[in-house]
Amino acid sequence: MTTADRKPRVFSGIQPTSDSFHLGNYLGALRQWVAMQDTADALYCVVDQHAITVDHDPKVLHQRSRASAAQLLALGLDPERCTLFIQSQVPEHAMLAWILGTETGFGEASRMTQFKDKSAKQERTTVGLFTYPVLMAADILVYQTDQVPVGEDQRQHLELSRDLAGRFNGTYGDTFIVPEPYIVKETATIKDLAEPEKKMSKSSTSPRGCLYLLDEPNLMRKKIKSAVTDSGGEVRYDMDAKPGVSNLLNIYAALGETTVGKLEAEYAGKGYGDFKGDLADVVADALGPIAAKTREYLADKAELDRILTAGAEKARHLAARTIAKAYKRIGFYPPVAL
Ligand code: TYM
Repeated sequence: MTTADRKPRVFSGIQPTSDSFHLGNYLGALRQWVAMQDTADALYCVVDQHAITVDHDPKVLHQRSRASAAQLLALGLDPERCTLFIQSQVPEHAMLAWILGTETGFGEASRMTQFKDKSAKQERTTVGLFTYPVLMAADILVYQTDQVPVGEDQRQHLELSRDLAGRFNGTYGDTFIVPEPYIVKETATIKDLAEPEKKMSKSSTSPRGCLYLLDEPNLMRKKIKSAVTDSGGEVRYDMDAKPGVSNLLNIYAALGETTVGKLEAEYAGKGYGDFKGDLADVVADALGPIAAKTREYLADKAELDRILTAGAEKARHLAARTIAKAYKRIGFYPPVAL
């Protein structure tokens, strides 16, 4: 199989598990999603089937899937330049997940660190949570994906996807492209603002630790200004000795379209106060408009549904081709047409 004759295929997904995405999602993944629309044949997916692997309320899940799609459009995904859809509308993902599950070792799946972390937090751990990374591999492989833009926390899952593709190809003949992770080093892990030794996540223990894209601009400013910085007043990058300031430098460089080196020079001799005040403005200016745009997309339900249905149809078309191939390889009858 060759990729030389086509644009690289890009696929990525995000879970609709909160009302708003956060700055870690944005800098670690979503910003790359927007940029890659122009360089790749890109598919982006709201992975609601992954979201039911932990406790959920059906009504809330439905609203959050819609709100997630609206935020992605507000961030700059353009349905003319990428394929945006909801995972459960494309049954081929689950069809391939079943096959890949039979190729996955029990020990191999048991080594997934996210499963260990998540199952430790749940009262009830399900088989669905255990096989989560297999469904993720199916998401990726069903589109013959070349590159997967994600944050660092997804690296191990990507490794599993690569192993499964290689193993299947080795056993049954060339079927899947082996995907590459696309992880931007500087923003691979955005840290919690209150506890900079942890990654930013919606389960932050501090109300100021996680900055949401739909926060009011004033709240964004407050969260940045109250971010934990380190002892010594110097604005200098050192992830080990100064994780708080270094995290803020990474955020500033990414949102302010500059570099950490330039920022260090600019703030030499100035204190944390000046630095955080300026960063608060950069963050509020960059992310402030997203909430209003999201509301606009949510206000036109028919249009949003149209975009998502069209996206799912396009995605299914591609996914069905891989399913036909994989079914044949494995010895199945082809799915019947409706
Ligand atoms: P999810 O929904 O947890 O996160 C979406 C994306 O945001 C990135 N991310 C971060 N990046 C940097 N710093 C952070 N603090 C941070 N927090 C989150 C994640 O790495 C991710 O890229 N399993 C996936 C969803 C998924 C998927 C897929 C991704 C399902 N199928 C196929 C890629 C391809 C997840 O839970 O992401």
